[in-house]
Amino acid sequence: SVLEMEVEQIKKGNYDHFMQKEIHEQPHSLTTTMRGRLRDGSVVLGGLKDNLKTIRHSRRIIFVGCGTSYNAALAARPFLEELSGIPVTMELASDLLDRQGPIYREDTAVFVSQSGETADTLLALEYALKSGALCVGITNTVGSTLARKTHCGVHINAGCEIGVASTKAYTSQIVVITMMALAIGADSLSTQSRRESIINTLPGLPEKVSEVLKLDGEMKDLAESLMEMQSLLVFGRGYNYATALEGALKVKEVALMHSEGMLAGEMKHGPLALVDETLPIIVIATRDACFSQQQSVIQQLYARNGRLIVMCSKGDAASVCPGGSCRTIEVPRVADCLQPVINIIPLQLLAYHLTVLRGFDVDQPRNLAKSVTTQ
Ligand code: G6P
Repeated sequence: SVLEMEVEQIKKGNYDHFMQKEIHEQPHSLTTTMRGRLRDGSVVLGGLKDNLKTIRHSRRIIFVGCGTSYNAALAARPFLEELSGIPVTMELASDLLDRQGPIYREDTAVFVSQSGETADTLLALEYALKSGALCVGITNTVGSTLARKTHCGVHINAGCEIGVASTKAYTSQIVVITMMALAIGADSLSTQSRRESIINTLPGLPEKVSEVLKLDGEMKDLAESLMEMQSLLVFGRGYNYATALEGALKVKEVALMHSEGMLAGEMKHGPLALVDETLPIIVIATRDACFSQQQSVIQQLYARNGRLIVMCSKGDAASVCPGGSCRTIEVPRVADCLQPVINIIPLQLLAYHLTVLRGFDVDQPRNLAKSVTTQ
């Protein structure tokens, strides 16, 4: 109806699509995610504090999710491992169910779901509950099945997400899991200075997100140069392996362009065969402990005439680009474990502009649903 259409437009504000609005909303959604949770140099997560001891004593932490929610957990995994000292394993909900993988009562299983209603994730939760493991929920939806059926959890408070492609929920999920890692690690003296340095930079993150959003025009230009392509590869590693998977997921799900995120460390074990002067490849090479390895990946792709687009830290464009020949995306630098929050944003913008340019439906991609409530 006309009324429904008008209400839709009002909700979109000055934006053409919900996905676009939600991408640009991230400085605000991240602020609400952190609100009230950073107090006097420590992290306070009310929904978790009575269970922190149990989590610290668990033998393993298992993340379970689907799609973007899985990727968010993957992005925060290295930091959780570092601060907890506990092995952290990853499970796609459907695969855990297919294998009936073993879960023990000494495990902590963390379920990540924007909607809190994804059937695969809820079935995996039911399965894990039977094992006696502590089940933690991370969701954007108060009162959702996930929130009700887990033992404890954290709401990401990103605000209602309408676009089928998840954007602001992804960055808020990463920040919540990072805060969870800080809370779990809070009893350790050896990581104290590391924790303090991250806690001190968290309040400045929304500002950095505003800064990276200024790449919108540049990403539109990049989308114009890529819109006719068949395929797009994204290489990442370390903290930004997840960025590669999630960037590629955005491109395939909304722009309907074949795209694969790959672990850069696996490049020479297969993907290198695909490289030629036509296939566009995004390499994420922002500054962190993996930087020199990514530089050598760039060298190898360059030597094979790969069509390179390098995402690097501000000021690094000249040094990451062999012969100054590749295209670069310069992003503001933040703490290594928070860099995935920044790095995904140009890729969200790229997927958005590719979709508009290719003439597809941004908010309702064909064949997909916001919440998949059937198995
Ligand atoms: C669907 C959506 C994805 C989402 C996934 C998990 O496939 O299209 O965007 O990432 O479900 O959803 P959840 O609500 O569990 O995070």
